[in-house]
Amino acid sequence: MAHWVFGYGSLLWRADFPYQACRRAHIRGWSRRFWQASRDHRGTPQAPGRVVTLIARPGERCDGLAYRVEENSLARLDHREKDGYQRVAVDIHTACGPLPGITYVAPPGNPGYLGPRRLDEMARQILEAAGASGRNLDYLRGLAEALRRLGVADSHVAALAERATALGARATPTARPGIAARRA
Ligand code: SIN
Repeated sequence: MAHWVFGYGSLLWRADFPYQACRRAHIRGWSRRFWQASRDHRGTPQAPGRVVTLIARPGERCDGLAYRVEENSLARLDHREKDGYQRVAVDIHTACGPLPGITYVAPPGNPGYLGPRRLDEMARQILEAAGASGRNLDYLRGLAEALRRLGVADSHVAALAERATALGARATPTARPGIAARRA
């Protein structure tokens, strides 16, 4: 049996599962936020990263992609989204009309739920974390770039990406070996 899955985070730029169709889509009543800890993919239990979840917000919408997948891909996604996420039934809106489907939400109250913090604090945590799937910063940048390609304006993601980049630049001033070598 085939299912429609709405992707709004890493599923937008790391679709490492077989799917039969992919459409631009949005869901209503939810907002994307970097409020969930990643203790496996983009961080560790000692130094968790931050990844996106969906927060229920009546009147708002979240833009992303809808994938049509078979049961085996869904099982793969259940495994990939295991750290606090659960399947939630949603209406996925596409240019061809609404589709019944599911999305993965890490709800408030799950053991990895971090909630909001000051922008600087969240950006620094992302800048410093890394896990089995790589740097947390690459997750943030991959998402920001995927949203840019889709033409989606997301001020939360854009502000975090900008701040993490600025903090990173400050932390590692550009090395200028050529100049040092010439002086030496
Ligand atoms: C998603 O991408 O739809 C779920 C959250 C994530 O894996 O980043």
